[in-house]
Amino acid sequence: MGAEANIGMTMPTTDITTLEVSDIQATVLRPRPSPYKGEYIILRIDDAAQAREMVRRLLPHVAPADDWWVPTLPGWLGIAFTYQGLKALGVPQASLDSFPKEFREGMASRASILNDVGDNAPTNWEYPFGSVDMHVALAIYSKDDHSLETVLERARQSHHDLPGVSVIYRMKFSELPGGRNPFGFRDGLHNPHVEGSGFHAHPGYGSLVKAGEFVMGYPDELGRVATSPEPEALRRNGTFLAFRKFHTRVAAFRKYLREQASTSEGEELIAAKMVGRWRSGAPLVLAPELDDPNLGADADRNNTFSYEGDMQGLKCPFSSHIRRVNPRDALKNDLVAVDLHYFLRRGTNYGPPLPEGVLEDDGAERGGVFLLIGAHLQRQFEFVQSQWMTDGNFIGHGTEQDPIVGNGEGDGIFTIPKRPIRRRLHGLPQFVAVRGGEYCFMPGLRALKWLAVLDTEHG
Ligand code: HEM
Repeated sequence: MGAEANIGMTMPTTDITTLEVSDIQATVLRPRPSPYKGEYIILRIDDAAQAREMVRRLLPHVAPADDWWVPTLPGWLGIAFTYQGLKALGVPQASLDSFPKEFREGMASRASILNDVGDNAPTNWEYPFGSVDMHVALAIYSKDDHSLETVLERARQSHHDLPGVSVIYRMKFSELPGGRNPFGFRDGLHNPHVEGSGFHAHPGYGSLVKAGEFVMGYPDELGRVATSPEPEALRRNGTFLAFRKFHTRVAAFRKYLREQASTSEGEELIAAKMVGRWRSGAPLVLAPELDDPNLGADADRNNTFSYEGDMQGLKCPFSSHIRRVNPRDALKNDLVAVDLHYFLRRGTNYGPPLPEGVLEDDGAERGGVFLLIGAHLQRQFEFVQSQWMTDGNFIGHGTEQDPIVGNGEGDGIFTIPKRPIRRRLHGLPQFVAVRGGEYCFMPGLRALKWLAVLDTEHG
């Protein structure tokens, strides 16, 4: 679900100075620790001056990307603002107007584009998602409960005497055993390799992607450097993130696998066909018939694959989750520029795991929260969500949706290419429900200072 599991092997390289890593928030460029404990906190601003004071106090604790995870650091604090939050903080209207349309409108207003309908519709979201009250999002990552408490205390101190800033939502998260997601799949195996980010990616992460795709102030894949939002002092080293909270229906997933299992396709193979990887993380393209846990655990091998030798989807179905959301070279004959649709994923899990073997829902809330990070919300997150995930046309599959993350409004079919004839699974339930989401702007550290002194220097 997240994209952090391979981090143990990442190493600093010599290109560390290429990006202004000391000015970019760590959450953007660096994977969170593993194992992790953490909390998301959402704040509402009723008094702009008090909110700026809070930003001033928080600033020394916001982790920059050059502060790599070191043992002395209790945790990371990341901070991001919604459009309503920037407005409540007192950002001048001309600057607010220069933000991209999708950010200004907010995620709930984009529901028809994102196919957030039915169970996923904003009317079913938890408060404060989709409301005008969601202003500031704090993400705190720590390695244990004690360190988390240390960072939480710093966050508390930043606003405890400021009644014009209120905590309206708190959500704890933590790593599940074995670094798996609630469905039991190994989590966070792939992220794009950001040029100049200072980290050497494992083989198979694909070619370097221009930094401007993920951080403003640098050329992107089209050779362009962002010119908005204005002013440059606010934009530089900032980025956007799509915050999405999901509930996972684990019992329904297990039950469906049991019902669909046959002598030729057992439960585990069907699960792997849906995701494109076995639960161990081993990709189907490299391990088409049997799981290979050593391959799944090997960060130098578990991404080293392409779809070139599987253009009929006989190993990894066209409709599987990972082939849809990152078709790698599978679309090269259609001349689709896949690298214009990359984003970084920072995912976390919440809730208790459903005990092994249980097939009945226990009513517990469990799932994941994603931060999908990129400089171009529309052509990155929105495109992947609305096209590759929800529409089957690009793979010749009509209204077939992503079998894991689909919204249940499709035709409930999952196609497994096979010889002599394909197998089609029917009656696919909705396994994942959106509990809320919002678009946020994650400024660079100098830009945070700019926001903190808005009243005195540029107000
Ligand atoms: C609860 C919802 C979701 C679940 C359970 C889930 C599950 C997974 C799993 C198991 C993997 C393979 C391991 C990995 O590389 O992390 C994966 C990869 C990925 N997911 Fe998701 N995912 C979810 C939602 C999303 C969403 C909303 C997006 C984007 C809109 C997304 C985009 C990706 C991408 C880009 C990859 C990497 C593909 C690759 O190149 O291998 N996922 N996901």
